[in-house]
Amino acid sequence: MNKDLRKTVIAGNWKMNKTRPEAKALIDEIKPFAAGSGCEVAVCVPFTNIETVVEAVKGTDIKVGAQNVHFEKSGAFTGEISADMLVETGAEYVIIGHSERRQYFGETDETVNKRVKAALAAGLVPIMCVGELLWEREAGITEEVLARQIKLDFAGFAAGEVKRTVIAYEPVWAIGTGKTATSEQAGEACGLIRSVIAKLHGKAAADAVTVQYGGSMNAKNAAELLAQPDVDGGLIGGASLKAADFGEIIKAAGK
Ligand code: PGA
Repeated sequence: MNKDLRKTVIAGNWKMNKTRPEAKALIDEIKPFAAGSGCEVAVCVPFTNIETVVEAVKGTDIKVGAQNVHFEKSGAFTGEISADMLVETGAEYVIIGHSERRQYFGETDETVNKRVKAALAAGLVPIMCVGELLWEREAGITEEVLARQIKLDFAGFAAGEVKRTVIAYEPVWAIGTGKTATSEQAGEACGLIRSVIAKLHGKAAADAVTVQYGGSMNAKNAAELLAQPDVDGGLIGGASLKAADFGEIIKAAGK
């Protein structure tokens, strides 16, 4: 498996944070770190910030993303946003199936599958999140959980569609808890995800797909996590809200 075949993507997940003026100020602070970084940098912001941030990143290579998308094109889905609507705002990425969406908003592998399909069809890059719960890891079924999620979330997909998706391996017990997976645990799980893809969608797709690690990645632990052969970037929550920390992670990825 060759790391050079894949794009390294460092994506910030701002979650439900930042007003528009705060968003603009944070982007201004991030810009110098992203310039000439040698990796792809994206920020996934609240819907209401997308246009402000798209404007703020003009003239840079920073990409902008959303944090969810509905799978239907239009219709009676109060409160939802379609993939075409996101494209219209200038967003290029979208996080799908984040564990907070799965836990608090009842999202399932079935809707994750439909959302990723819809995002790809509209030309967005989905960042599809998978990961085991603490008690699943403790019960020794991490492999089964990840394989099941990958199978279901990509069910009915062509290899070309899988390749265009970014996968974020986010062990749920490591998100926002300050508990990071060890670099070995992260590398092992990302490798496992890649091997499931190789089996189901072919080696070319597995070699090309970007698999990020997410869960309390920070300025201190990023370099070690990113050095793992199967870790191709990071999805960063808390540390993406501090420009200096996010900048350190970008630097570690560009090396
Ligand atoms: P965290 O969040 O970096 O704050 O743990 C990661 C995520 O939820 O994507």
